[in-house]
Amino acid sequence: MACAMQDGVADLDAAPTLTVEAMRLLTKSSSSTLRRCRRSSVALDPCGAPGCTSAIGPVGGEHGMATVWCVLDDARGPDLRGTEDVNASGKTARDVAAALAFELLAPLGDRYLHTVKVAARAKELTPAVPQSDRELLVVAAWWHDLGYAPDLVQTGFHPVDGARYLAAKGHSPRLCGLVAHHSAATFEAAERGLEADLEEWPREEGPVPDALWTADMTTGPRGEELDYSERLAEILARYDSDSIVGRAMSQAQPSIQAAIDRTSSRLRAG
Ligand SMILES: [Fe+2]
Repeated sequence: MACAMQDGVADLDAAPTLTVEAMRLLTKSSSSTLRRCRRSSVALDPCGAPGCTSAIGPVGGEHGMATVWCVLDDARGPDLRGTEDVNASGKTARDVAAALAFELLAPLGDRYLHTVKVAARAKELTPAVPQSDRELLVVAAWWHDLGYAPDLVQTGFHPVDGARYLAAKGHSPRLCGLVAHHSAATFEAAERGLEADLEEWPREEGPVPDALWTADMTTGPRGEELDYSERLAEILARYDSDSIVGRAMSQAQPSIQAAIDRTSSRLRAG
């Protein structure tokens, strides 16, 4: 069975209706995430989505379709642990991510504009990552700069501060690691003497960080579309080439360029 609009009559009496609150309690202590799934019947078998192990529900129905909740095993599906409460309210992980980014970054003005465009760019780049990681990429893009929010500042290095906040919220080491290490953060961490703080989270190598870095490094500080050379030039102009950020971004240039090149290759390969 696929999670898709299908013809058919929903048999909403075939299983007891679970409330959103009950579903939230069901998944609270497990390593699962819920995702809304529309079906032509209330059969609760896996739908075929990455990580889907079963379904619970139904929670409603209209136009001959039933709505149930797929139970996604975090170990096999998208790594979005910590968003299940709001997912159980019917929002996607990226909806949750966008709402939190708005709450924390909109007061910062330009930083929020940048974030909105990075998330949009990440969405464009999803064909460069495996299907099961696409939601994770977009969520990481929405959250990559959360550490700039004044209430989250601890070290003053936004990748670490953002990752700490997300870790405290219960998000996975993988998601925290994508935020912590985004856009070659290793170099600035070294300039700031914060290597140990950064290494608290895994540094992933592969399509997802490559695409995240590409989205961030081809989007200007107010959301402008830039190529990487323009982005680097504006950073060096904004921070001064001999500042901590300026030195780090100059050192990071080969790593970031390589990530962008790999992402472009993956897009071309389809
Ligand atoms: Fe950014």
